[in-house]
Amino acid sequence: KTPVAILLSGRGSNATALIEACARPDFPARICLVLSNKPDAPGLDMARAAGLETVAIDHRLYKKDREAHERAVDAALQKAGAEVVCLAGYMRLLTPFLTTQWAGKMLNIHPSLLPVFPGLHTHERALDAGVRIHGCTVHLVTEGMDEGPILGQAAVPVLPGDTAEGLAARVLRQEHRLYPDVLRRYLTKSPASTPAEAALLVA
Ligand code: GAR
Repeated sequence: KTPVAILLSGRGSNATALIEACARPDFPARICLVLSNKPDAPGLDMARAAGLETVAIDHRLYKKDREAHERAVDAALQKAGAEVVCLAGYMRLLTPFLTTQWAGKMLNIHPSLLPVFPGLHTHERALDAGVRIHGCTVHLVTEGMDEGPILGQAAVPVLPGDTAEGLAARVLRQEHRLYPDVLRRYLTKSPASTPAEAALLVA
């Protein structure tokens, strides 16, 4: 099993989905570390309760020096023996230091069908734009925010009368399916062979 580290900043529901997938004997990854920039992130408590190694590296202790914070994050990743990093609600802009260090080995999940709606408030923006299909994306991390080669997407229809909360909840359910599925395909180097696999389209 490939040692994978998870970086998170909050709730950790995607981290939970990855941890549950890794608990299956036939899944090609094991979680070697769950790291947060927020010491009080609920996701850290969840990971600790699951018996996983956790560490908090509080970005506020590094003043405005983003790279110094990332050097500490990277040292923790190396120490844990991570070979792949999954960002799961890690709400920090990364500097070229970390993106270069982990080029091709760092995945992110984002709650929109990239390249539309990078950044924050994706569900509100999807509703404002009037799109009929919304969703989520797993991609390799490069220097630009929410950019980088797309590894998989799941589509979620926007329903009449949808609220941002309702839409967010339906997208989140698909995030929890998509991320483990894409990680498995990424680690086993088995690209999706059918359109249905490539885009987990929700009816
Ligand atoms: C998820 O919806 C994830 O896609 C999003 O933050 C949420 C974290 O929830 N990530 C981004 O917006 C990254 N740009 P979680 O902590 O319950 O997994």
